[in-house]
Amino acid sequence: MSAQPVLKIALSKGRIFKESLPLLAEAGIVPAEDPEKSRKLILDTNQDDIKLVIIRATDVPVYVDYGAADIGVAGKDVLLEYGGQGLYEPLDLKIARCKLVVAGKKNMPAPQGRLRIATKFVNVARRHYAEQGKQVEIIKLYGSMELAPLVGLADYIVDVMDTGNTLKANGLEWKEDIETNISSRLVVNKAAMKMQHSRIQNLIQQISQAVK
Ligand code: ATP
Ligand code: PRP
Repeated sequence: MSAQPVLKIALSKGRIFKESLPLLAEAGIVPAEDPEKSRKLILDTNQDDIKLVIIRATDVPVYVDYGAADIGVAGKDVLLEYGGQGLYEPLDLKIARCKLVVAGKKNMPAPQGRLRIATKFVNVARRHYAEQGKQVEIIKLYGSMELAPLVGLADYIVDVMDTGNTLKANGLEWKEDIETNISSRLVVNKAAMKMQHSRIQNLIQQISQAVK
């Protein structure tokens, strides 16, 4: 029987999972399965009292905020959009680095009237344009944002950009930065941090060594 409660770590498939693996390994945590190959959503690890829960990137703060996961790895873009108060953000993991930007069609004339902005980051976009005193209409999308300006759905998009290849491939260009320091952060549920303080602090310490 395990002496301590199971610690649940929330990760999303794809780049966050892949880039978190070496960091977790430094803390002695190795998943028993590859989520790309398994349909399971709760993965065992080499440690009986640590499980990985596999969820959509945008859902990670929700699970951690509500305490359904104790710890998670989430992009700063997702955290800015979520804005939850129930989370500690103790560590920048410096993985999955990109920027949050405004983009639009190349060489487009300045749009007239109220701007239409397509994005999955509706709160980030609303805040950004409110700070500029601009009235905009935000159109919520769940993916393929780059399509929106091409088919006349929106004037601009707000999305993450790394190499700029996706924008370029679609005849779009960077227009403006919103946040240049986007990377994945370790997030911790506030109650879990209190209840399992030394255990979680230990883990943060080990992972921060790996980040360095
Ligand atoms: P969801 O499935 O919930 O819509 P997603 O498809 O954005 O999320 P990922 O593509 O795995 O999920 O991205 C996870 C995180 O990685 C993002 O929140 C962002 O911080 C970062 N990211 C996204 N795109 C890139 C990129 N092209 N290069 C580097 N980092 C990126
Ligand atoms: C993200 C983002 C852009 C792309 C930018 O998509 O939505 O489309 O990366 O990266 P780049 O500047 O290097 O081209 P992602 O690859 O995560 O695919 P997604 O549609 O699943 O989010």
